[in-house]
Amino acid sequence: MKIFIDSADVSELKALAETGLVDGVTTNPSLIAKGGRNIFEALKEICAAIPGPISAEAVALEAPAMISEGKKLRTIADNIVVKLPLTFEGLKACKALSDEGVPVNVTLCFSAAQALLAAKAGATYISPFVGRLDDGGQDGMELIREIRAIYDQYLFETQILAASIRTVGHVRDAALAGADCSTIPPNVFRACYKHVLTDAGLDAFLSDWKKTGQSIL
Ligand code: E4P
Repeated sequence: MKIFIDSADVSELKALAETGLVDGVTTNPSLIAKGGRNIFEALKEICAAIPGPISAEAVALEAPAMISEGKKLRTIADNIVVKLPLTFEGLKACKALSDEGVPVNVTLCFSAAQALLAAKAGATYISPFVGRLDDGGQDGMELIREIRAIYDQYLFETQILAASIRTVGHVRDAALAGADCSTIPPNVFRACYKHVLTDAGLDAFLSDWKKTGQSIL
């Protein structure tokens, strides 16, 4: 499963990219607002720091304007993926841009039927929002499983990008459900490698090693 980071915080993204484990980035208008930077400047830096796909969201509501915004966002760098909402107009814009070879991430997906339409519109990625469904008392991960079954049955190439990931358990379950990618907030990425038994085990190993008086270098 590819790991994308869900953030527009350029310095945080650069720090996480140093692990070599970051396959891409997703942003949205709220994350850009939170970062407090000009959208074009922030995305340019992110695209330069991380060679993988970087989702940048259009904010227009009509297909022609979505297409124009998408094309303008694509001038930032070759690795920009145009992010469009799962609306009637968004699907029209997705089909038009995808037909021209522009990669599109269809976002704000909350049902399998929506995901089916996005795949038929040629989306490169579909972003089902797991956490927001959980917030409303539904099982967000069940949606990932449903989309996986539909895409496999009809051989759709659209990649499932599990979004609105809130916990380490979500990361595990998205991988088990066969998501192609998960987009993870920086704090959840950092929580993924943490385990109390890892820390305790390392303390014990180093304490025993110290007693030997040896050095490796
Ligand atoms: C996806 O691309 C979105 O940016 C994101 O995952 C939304 O997550 P949230 O529900 O935590 O805002």
